Amino acid sequence: MMMNNELTLCDIGFIGLGVMGKNLVLNLADNGYRVAVFDLDDEKITATIKQDILENTEKTPRIIGCSSYTELLAKLKAPHLIVLSVPAGDPVDQVCASLIGAGILPDDIVIDTGNSLWTDTVAREQKYKNNFILFSSAVSGGEVGARFGPALMPSGSAYAWTRIKPIWQAIAAKVDPETGKPLERTKPGEIVKQGEPCAAYIGPAGAGHYVKMVHNGIEYADMQIICEAYHLLRIGLALSPTEVADIFEHWNKGLLNSYLMEISVEVLRHKDPQTSVALVDLILDKAGQKGTGLWTAMSSLEVGCPAPTIAQAVYARSISSFKSLRLAGAEVFDDITVESLNSDEKEAFIKQLHDAIYCAKICAYAQGFQLMKLAAKEHGWQLDFASIAKIWRAGCIIRAAFLQSITAAFERDEHLENLLLDSFFATQLQAHQENWRKLVAKATLLGLPIGAISSALAYFDAMRSAVLPTNLLQGQRDYFGAHTFERVDKTAGKKYHVLWSSKQQEIIAIE
Ligand code: 6PG
Repeated sequence: MMMNNELTLCDIGFIGLGVMGKNLVLNLADNGYRVAVFDLDDEKITATIKQDILENTEKTPRIIGCSSYTELLAKLKAPHLIVLSVPAGDPVDQVCASLIGAGILPDDIVIDTGNSLWTDTVAREQKYKNNFILFSSAVSGGEVGARFGPALMPSGSAYAWTRIKPIWQAIAAKVDPETGKPLERTKPGEIVKQGEPCAAYIGPAGAGHYVKMVHNGIEYADMQIICEAYHLLRIGLALSPTEVADIFEHWNKGLLNSYLMEISVEVLRHKDPQTSVALVDLILDKAGQKGTGLWTAMSSLEVGCPAPTIAQAVYARSISSFKSLRLAGAEVFDDITVESLNSDEKEAFIKQLHDAIYCAKICAYAQGFQLMKLAAKEHGWQLDFASIAKIWRAGCIIRAAFLQSITAAFERDEHLENLLLDSFFATQLQAHQENWRKLVAKATLLGLPIGAISSALAYFDAMRSAVLPTNLLQGQRDYFGAHTFERVDKTAGKKYHVLWSSKQQEIIAIE
């Protein structure tokens, strides 16, 4: 017979009630799970419970506050399922150590939902394997996503996934399988049962965090491309923030539709309540970053996968942080003076900019997906790229109509090496590249920085070049370092070296 307290035990334990944690807890509660919560800050526990009381129409307590890790474990059904929403790095290990101290058991599952470095996740799975099962599931979607349906990137023990799957699929964002469009859920208590959930198993430990890291790298590039477009319109064409918002709003109805474009419109329309000035004009132009974009760029260098647009987006944030240096630079170098454009020229410029953003965006995604492909090969992960593109169609920060086309590309060819080679994207690039080139040329003449948009063009041009000048580079390397080279007219793989300093400069074949 079931004991009375078994009826009242909670389904899930939750640790860390910051912005993401609190909203994930409310989302779990909406989906019928009883959640025991703990945070080192009592006020956060109180705030979460208060919010639930306000929103919960059934008035039966769905969230139970706990004052210690021990109490949290005692309030849970066994084997315990505990979700962590704490900052990446040491805090994850501190909580794990506290759970061990509180008596967590080897078949209990702990899910790390933070943006942990993927190699830390791999190490943690091993480190804690005798104490509990460490599972990871990066979450994307910010505050609103966490509350009403995020994109979830679970990875780790396949056994743990069988337990987590129904919960994750319930709380995740959902997509209409026919159209690939998000099925919106915006009210507390509301749940969406139909649709494809944006929560698919990614692979073994580390794979999910790697995929989320690349999601963020693409997010950095996507944001930077939009910001460069804003800068060209605001400074290059001297449009007001509202006028830029109007253009973005129009673009958001077409090929450039995305959540990031949508929120950019809202940011640009926002007025400072005190001065009625567009708030964007009052926001200091120094960008912060928490590390995931940098990790993506570093990983691309380690794996040997070109991802210059993602790296450039990280550099753009770094450059922005040198405000006083930039001010000094602005004193030293004159502004570029250009003739102002007539209305037809302005219209052409805006059209070129539209196409440039579209092409640069295709390249940023091509870089991110190729990076995941090469990393998967290196680490022995079987990543399903159509499935990854699918779970990014809703809930996450880079959600966009565009992800449906990426899904289709990988469904057409699961072994696709690079999105640029997909028939749909190749046709799109072919059709829009001329405007992209014109835009890059004009922006360069205007003296406005467009590192992401132009690095994407350089990437595209290099990736479609049958011949690159690296033959000379190989000659240089061989000259000063005897690094050898291969020849186009001899067997592939056979190495040669020139005795550059000898009189005859004879070429020798290396065994
Ligand atoms: C998401 C976001 C999120 C992001 C933070 C910090 O998918 O919800 O990517 O996880 O990491 O917003 O990003 P910054 O590095 O820009 O601070």
